[in-house]
Amino acid sequence: MNTLSPLCCILLALLISSTLAPSQSPAVDLALRSLARARGINIGAAVAARPLLNDSLYAQTLAREFGMLTPENAMKFGPIHPARDRYDFRDADAIVEFAVANGMRIRGHTLVWHNQQPRWLTEEDFSRDELLAILREHITTVAGRYRGKVTAWDVVNEAIGDNGSLRDTIWLRRLGPEYLDLVFRWAHEADPEAQLFYNDYGGEGLGRKSDAIYTMVRGLSSRGVPIHGVGLQMHVSLDSFPNPQDVAANISRLAALGLHVHITEMDVRIRQPITEEKLAAQARIYQEIVRVCLSSPNCTAFVMWGFTDRYSWVPSFFPGFGGALILDESYGPKPAYSALAELLRGR
Ligand code: XIL
Repeated sequence: MNTLSPLCCILLALLISSTLAPSQSPAVDLALRSLARARGINIGAAVAARPLLNDSLYAQTLAREFGMLTPENAMKFGPIHPARDRYDFRDADAIVEFAVANGMRIRGHTLVWHNQQPRWLTEEDFSRDELLAILREHITTVAGRYRGKVTAWDVVNEAIGDNGSLRDTIWLRRLGPEYLDLVFRWAHEADPEAQLFYNDYGGEGLGRKSDAIYTMVRGLSSRGVPIHGVGLQMHVSLDSFPNPQDVAANISRLAALGLHVHITEMDVRIRQPITEEKLAAQARIYQEIVRVCLSSPNCTAFVMWGFTDRYSWVPSFFPGFGGALILDESYGPKPAYSALAELLRGR
């Protein structure tokens, strides 16, 4: 028989609509990813390769809740360029493939930093010309490989010290301050479509460090260096986080320079023991920062440094602290998750 019964047609229609339009299904509509999109921003999380490949709940939750990801370590100089003549793209490729397959934006992190550098780079006494050639080749290779796939690159990470002067790194020491102009130009040549960011911590609100960042990026822009945005890391704790009004003012002075802002690495660490009160306070801090981003037209992405307390850098880097992310260790929503969902729904 060629004719289909009405019940069969209904079932078929349901099946087609659920396959063609997964974003229409109730579970996905409630996810942060679509709520954030509807408000004009991307919401994202830093991603580690190992759980992505080995923990299916991690991968499923990531794709459902986030429209953007940042490789947590896989694109850093040491992991991706372990020997002078050898790159290891395995983890970075796996993360990029996952993002592409799930329609997620990618923040590349990071091309020039003073941490997680390979021994071959830091232990040999390269001349200035050799080091320039090494860095140019590194940027061209890494940004070139992911050309067209990375939405935004953290070209330079943490180049300013806590006192507001340029940080003493091998790049500053051996290349001089002009390394900053050069690396943005090289990244732009390698991936002309990518938005190029300067990313740092401790300069989210107003103060000496954010003034120094502002002055530096203003200088880069005024010299015609291709820089498109500033990343505010936002690693904070319940007792120490920037005043939201100061963050708004900082984002707005960057807007006046024509720059985008991404919140790039937010987490809110809690000193043990973790209590209901502390989780409620954490939820308010997350909500305040996303509120500032939503009310700043040039703030176009909100990214956290992970999404589940099962995998977070906090307990090992800040002994005595934990619980910094919006899902618990079993991927259950914490008050901070609900607070973000509520805010993004417009309530
Ligand atoms: C951290 C990672 O989360 C850790 O796994 C790694 O051991 C050290 O680096 N600022 C940054 C990030 O820009 O790259 C850092 O990530 C956290 C602080």
